[in-house]
Amino acid sequence: MATEEQTQAQGSDGAGGSGADTLSITDNRTGRSYEVEITDDTIKAMDLRQIKVNEDDFGMMAYDPAYTNTASCRSSITYIDGEAGILQHRGYPIEQLCEKSTYLEVAYLLVFGELPTKSQLDRWVFDVTHHTFVHEDMKAFFQGFRHDAHPMGILLAGVGAMSTFYPHAKEIDDEEERYMAAIRMIAKMPTLAAFAYRHSLGLPYVYPDNDHSYAGNFLAMMKKMTEVKYEPDPRLERALDVLFILHADHEQNCSTAAVRAVGSSQVDPYSAVAAGVAALYGPLHGGANEAVLRMLRRIETVENIPDFLQGVKDKEEKLMGFGHRVYKNYDPRARIIKKHVDEVLEVTGDNPLLDIATELEKRALDDDYFTERKLYPNVDFYSGLIYEALGIPSDMFTVIFAIPRTSGWVAQWMEMNGDSEQKIARPRQIYTGECDRDYISIGDREGPEKITGPPARRPVKARRGA
Ligand code: CMC
Repeated sequence: MATEEQTQAQGSDGAGGSGADTLSITDNRTGRSYEVEITDDTIKAMDLRQIKVNEDDFGMMAYDPAYTNTASCRSSITYIDGEAGILQHRGYPIEQLCEKSTYLEVAYLLVFGELPTKSQLDRWVFDVTHHTFVHEDMKAFFQGFRHDAHPMGILLAGVGAMSTFYPHAKEIDDEEERYMAAIRMIAKMPTLAAFAYRHSLGLPYVYPDNDHSYAGNFLAMMKKMTEVKYEPDPRLERALDVLFILHADHEQNCSTAAVRAVGSSQVDPYSAVAAGVAALYGPLHGGANEAVLRMLRRIETVENIPDFLQGVKDKEEKLMGFGHRVYKNYDPRARIIKKHVDEVLEVTGDNPLLDIATELEKRALDDDYFTERKLYPNVDFYSGLIYEALGIPSDMFTVIFAIPRTSGWVAQWMEMNGDSEQKIARPRQIYTGECDRDYISIGDREGPEKITGPPARRPVKARRGA
């Protein structure tokens, strides 16, 4: 039978609650009890600090290495119910936004909180469209990268470098500067992304064309060759715009948390967003769609799927594009993308990888290993297939994710700046190392013979370039 303390720690069925919005905590080390206020089903971590064994103790902290159960801000931008598979921006369901809106309108909604009127939207689209050019020196900066540099690395550097082109952006309390930074980042991100792509192919850069839509202009900057005017297929343009809407924001994910953490130091917004680009680069975040395609190619045929899934269950591999920290149900974005894959393939022709993806999804969803762990397809499972059908190489996929996520990063950065509860981000740690040691001169140190440090050098392979 559980002791009284265990019953308290494990929770009970609610009988005996007083209805007060407080949490009673009994510290079994001291027998002392504490009342902690509950607001929005949440307690303030700082309220735990009063829990001490001795007066001079530091006080209790919450340990949460990956912020799995810690709210770091209040936000009114994006609502997710991961159990139910619901995603809303400023209260509007993602399904309606994808069906009826455009990426630039959604970007306005994220940044300003309301859908724009006709004249507000016209001004917004005009401003974005007229800030798509990047400084000519940016081209020279890009020339410094090796021809085979990963475009995400180039984009990361380019976004960071933008802070040097717009030094007034550091005046973060100036509303006009904040607006201009938002416009410039949303406007120039596709140009930087397309330049990074053209650089990796050794092709001349294509300047923005104001006649095109936001997505159409990006396609033109990527694809234009010798034709006088590049005309994007409207179906592909719309599919890309929907992908942009789907990737615009996703509350406190890894890259957004990075933007907020870095932005909390009151650095300029370009530097804060560069931190977001860096976080997005990782294979567990924005790099997953690239990894999905590599996985599908490796599986090679539908017949190899059972073996592959066995390898996943044996923890030898991961099923990329599956699973999510928040969604414990089908990611609503994956459902929308899946519909667009068929439309895009109608234009571009079949892709055998789609058959593998469809069968892989079906088998995983029929398998207890995945359903018990609530592993469902996420946004990246199908997005890579669309990008591939658009003729975009896989190392550009994460770059294309960064383009629309910029509006989310900007919106979150602006919200953080106006939030009086925010301070510089500064987590605590549980120190596990030694204390109070006296320095030992090198001749007096004893230790294992084995040299600690990097592994012995392997024979130098023929290196590429200098
Ligand atoms: N394949 C196989 N097993 C998985 C996977 C997967 N993709 N994801 C989670 N699991 C297992 C995991 O091994 C663990 O099993 P067990 O209980 O036996 O140890 C269980 O499911 C719980 O997983 P977790 O690691 O605690 O989950 P998490 O919330 O820490 O990780 C995730 C979330 C997205 C990092 C992870 O699901 C993953 O690595 N997925 C593949 C990468 C991917 O598709 N990322 C894109 C995310 S969506 C776009 C974005 O937001 O950037």
